[in-house]
Amino acid sequence: MDCARLWLGLLLPVVAALDFSYHHQPEMEAFLKSISQNYSSITHLHSIGESVEGRNLWVLIVGRFPKEHRIGIPEFKYVANMHGDEAVGRELLLHLIEYLVTSDGRDPEITNLINSTRIHIMPSMNPDGFEAVLKPDCFYNKGRENSNFYDLNRNFPDAFEFNTVPRQPETVAVMKWLNTETFVLSANLHGGALVASYPFDNGVPATGTLYSRSLTPDDDVFQYLARTYASRNPDMRKRNPCRTKIEFPGGIVNGYFWYPLKGGMQDYNYIWAQCFEITLELSCCKYPRKEKLPSFWNENKDSLIDYIKQVHIGVKGQIFDQNGTPLPNVTVEVQDRKHVCPYRTNKFGEYYLLLLPGFYVIEVTVPGHNPHLTKVTIPPKSQNFSALKKDILLPFTGQLDHIPESDPLCPIIPLYRDLQGHSAATKPSLFLFLVTLFHILFK
Ligand SMILES: *[C@@H]1O[C@H](CO)[C@@H](O)[C@H](O)[C@H]1NC(C)=O
Ligand SMILES: *[C@@H]1O[C@H](CO)[C@@H](O)[C@H](O)[C@H]1NC(C)=O
Ligand SMILES: *[C@@H]1O[C@H](CO)[C@@H](O)[C@H](O)[C@H]1NC(C)=O
Ligand SMILES: *[C@@H]1O[C@H](CO)[C@@H](O)[C@H](O)[C@H]1NC(C)=O
Ligand SMILES: [Zn+2]
Repeated sequence: MDCARLWLGLLLPVVAALDFSYHHQPEMEAFLKSISQNYSSITHLHSIGESVEGRNLWVLIVGRFPKEHRIGIPEFKYVANMHGDEAVGRELLLHLIEYLVTSDGRDPEITNLINSTRIHIMPSMNPDGFEAVLKPDCFYNKGRENSNFYDLNRNFPDAFEFNTVPRQPETVAVMKWLNTETFVLSANLHGGALVASYPFDNGVPATGTLYSRSLTPDDDVFQYLARTYASRNPDMRKRNPCRTKIEFPGGIVNGYFWYPLKGGMQDYNYIWAQCFEITLELSCCKYPRKEKLPSFWNENKDSLIDYIKQVHIGVKGQIFDQNGTPLPNVTVEVQDRKHVCPYRTNKFGEYYLLLLPGFYVIEVTVPGHNPHLTKVTIPPKSQNFSALKKDILLPFTGQLDHIPESDPLCPIIPLYRDLQGHSAATKPSLFLFLVTLFHILFK
């Protein structure tokens, strides 16, 4: 039985099972379940929690080893429809899923991507909002917020000021999910504009707000990532495709420069989840007629695929002690681009650092020891679906019991608060970050 179906599957031409229309929760669930049954060896479907009204928050994973992390295979994610009335991204991700699974074994590029990457796809973070839209509209609609009337992209902890808005079930589910995987790269799909926006969305003078912007120490990487997406989308790369007051040269913009916001998901990912995330605004109209969906798919398909590949830029590897034991929870940062919450190895002792080609010094810090420095040269981008691999052997035996259980430098409070008043309470890592930023801003 199964064998016969397998053969049929291999021999029959691929029929597009998914139509270009809007899929409500029951249809979306049926599609995801059908995909996960028909392509069980390369997919894994799970729900990361429930919305206020009890709808599942589905995530479909595509990868050669979809059920669990494998050492050396980076985790990537797409999240769409966190604003329930911004509907294009939701459908694009369903089509992306279909495209990935039906191309496996047929298209060498996609096969390579699936072999080398674990791709997590969440078509809707706000299923209640999507269902609440009564009349699809190009502009703001009731379904933007969740069922409790909270905007989920204002609902995350904020690194720059206290976010006192009550945390919503959808937000809590995503925050927990981020802790379960070592996500490296991500994008958050929206509508109502056509631009790739990169962190920060909020800021303080130390990140550049006096100059109407708020930049991370990884600004070169973020601009590159945003440009990668925008340059392959024929409409996004135009200066002002939606004919608005503000123009976006190259189709990219710093989030704060566009408009500051508190509690956004992309800043949270970068600061607390070690995951580089950008925000993709994919359609001038938030909820266009379904007849427009094929052209949105055509315009975004290459960008969506190319952006996933960027999870393989930079350097990755494992940190071992003298006995060859991998060390979890040790800080691995690049000199001169330290994060306000230091990036740490996962439970397999792995690190992933997204970097452009160039020369860098990696600083590995185990509490109680001097920082260990390793020089790396990232070669110009290769088509090998792998970051530069650099395992680092420390010249001592790790004392795991000295590694703090939770990071005292990384509490869920506004980490940059002290920077505003140049308070004496500024911690050493914050100070380094400041120095780096001033270097960037005033050179
Ligand atoms: C799964 O396979 C069944 C039986 O071949 C088919 O009818 C269905 O359309 C497939 N579903 C998807 C989403 O490919
Ligand atoms: C992908 O992985 C499969 C299974 O391990 C292997 O047979 C195939 O050769 C790989 N393909 C590519 C293009 O790497
Ligand atoms: C590609 O990367 C893999 C894994 O790091 C490595 O084993 C292989 O030699 C590389 N191939 C090329 C052509 O660089
Ligand atoms: C690493 O940190 C996590 C979370 O802070 C903690 O749960 C875990 O026990 C730590 N592991 C080790 C080996 O220190
Ligand atoms: Zn939005």
